[in-house]
Amino acid sequence: MDKFLIEGGQPLTGPAEVSGSKNAALPIMAAVLASDGPLELTAVPDLDDVHSLLGLLGTLGVHAEFPAENQLKLVVETTRPHVADYDLVRRMRASICVLGPLLARRGRACVSLPGGCNIGHRPIDLHLKGLAALGADIRVQQGYVVAEAERLRGNSVFLGGPFGSTVTGTCNIMTAAALAEGRTVIEAAACEPEVVDLGDCLNQMGARIQGLGTPRIEIEGVERLGAARHRVIPDRIEAATLLIAAAITGGQIDISPVRPDHLVAVCEILEQTGMRIEQLATETVSAPGQVTWRATAPDVIAPTSFTALPYPGVPTDIQAQLMALLCLADGISVVTDKVFPDRFLHAAELARLGARITRDGPTAMIHGVERLSGANVMAGDLRASAALVLAALAASGTSTVRRIYHLDRGYQRLDGKLNRLGADVIRTGDSRGPSPPHWDTGTTARPDHSGHRVAGGQGKNPRSRSS
Ligand code: EPZ
Repeated sequence: MDKFLIEGGQPLTGPAEVSGSKNAALPIMAAVLASDGPLELTAVPDLDDVHSLLGLLGTLGVHAEFPAENQLKLVVETTRPHVADYDLVRRMRASICVLGPLLARRGRACVSLPGGCNIGHRPIDLHLKGLAALGADIRVQQGYVVAEAERLRGNSVFLGGPFGSTVTGTCNIMTAAALAEGRTVIEAAACEPEVVDLGDCLNQMGARIQGLGTPRIEIEGVERLGAARHRVIPDRIEAATLLIAAAITGGQIDISPVRPDHLVAVCEILEQTGMRIEQLATETVSAPGQVTWRATAPDVIAPTSFTALPYPGVPTDIQAQLMALLCLADGISVVTDKVFPDRFLHAAELARLGARITRDGPTAMIHGVERLSGANVMAGDLRASAALVLAALAASGTSTVRRIYHLDRGYQRLDGKLNRLGADVIRTGDSRGPSPPHWDTGTTARPDHSGHRVAGGQGKNPRSRSS
């Protein structure tokens, strides 16, 4: 199992490139099952989760080609298979995104229940309620969701749950409704940019979807969905993680491409900590809405408080990374997560680096400390791993961050990106050596292991309020 050895104290500076969004790419890839294809995608991030989904799509009759780096062509070769196997689904919860498209196009879907998760309870009742409202016959049998419907029928579907709407649930219902007979209205739909990106791609395929980005999505069902070409939006969570890397190390980065409209809440919190963010380059015709930002760290990190909420609130997927930053703030910050109230496993690991965090239910109180110091840490999920890497970048001395496979699921070669900014991150493997994922251009999906380290900067200057 790979781990990172991180020598803290390097201020990160220079240009940083943001990859395509994981959480947009996954449901978009799954949506090919609802179409006759092909689906040609650009800006697909090279991630373990993408390769896991390609493995699952392969068993469902979808052939993948890799014309160039971060480009993907998906061709539907057969529409017969309808079983998403436990061994493939359990690797990644987002596999549930195949349920709606499979059912709508093939009339039958048998998808393993995704199972437990380190960030808290993650039911799929809203997905099932939505599909049932569209006329599907649904039962759970031997750990699998079995859904059947000769043709789905449009209906009114309410997707609000105890913690807000559901992102992948909205993706599932919207994709299924695109092929339903008649009109569907999704109330309390998720407004996340990733849902909008999927909707835009479905419209390219021939769907008739309106109201994307609002809590009321209207879908006029069509008979079939066809070919599409689509560029995946930049990953707002990766962008926010890189911005925090600059903030926590006292650096300055030029980051692109970013969609400012996707990062309003994160930008607000970072500016409250004292970070300066300015727009350098304006959008181009080929990438509308995407710009470059220059982000400059504060001299002293000001404390602040926030609540992770559904979009357009601060994303739960950046809660852990912001908490890492606030560990070094000059005062007390309060962080609440209303999307996943148990998503605080990182707090105990941050404490190993010297952070002072107390937790009360869905809320954590962070008492800023003067400095963090290197330690052995281990994370239990993707964003918690990112938070630990960020804290280690600012800590004095060496940290070892274990279980880096979590990070590789959702960040495209984060160690390489950080090292190009001057960080000192070495990937080592207990048995097989360096192994960032690798896009296998020209052939079929498989991660390769050909890691490298880009040298870091010179001066060691662990982040502390006195430095
Ligand atoms: C998506 O998960 C993301 N994953 C998550 O990102 C993200 O944290 C989450 O949305 C919230 O923004 C992908 O897009 C692949 P939800 P999803 O259904 O769709 C409750 C990451 O790190 N709920 O929007 O599975 C649920 O328990 C990952 O990249 C129900 O009650 O999340 C939670 O409290 C982790 N019933 C809230 O809704 C349901 O049927 C939001 O969950 C479904 C969800």
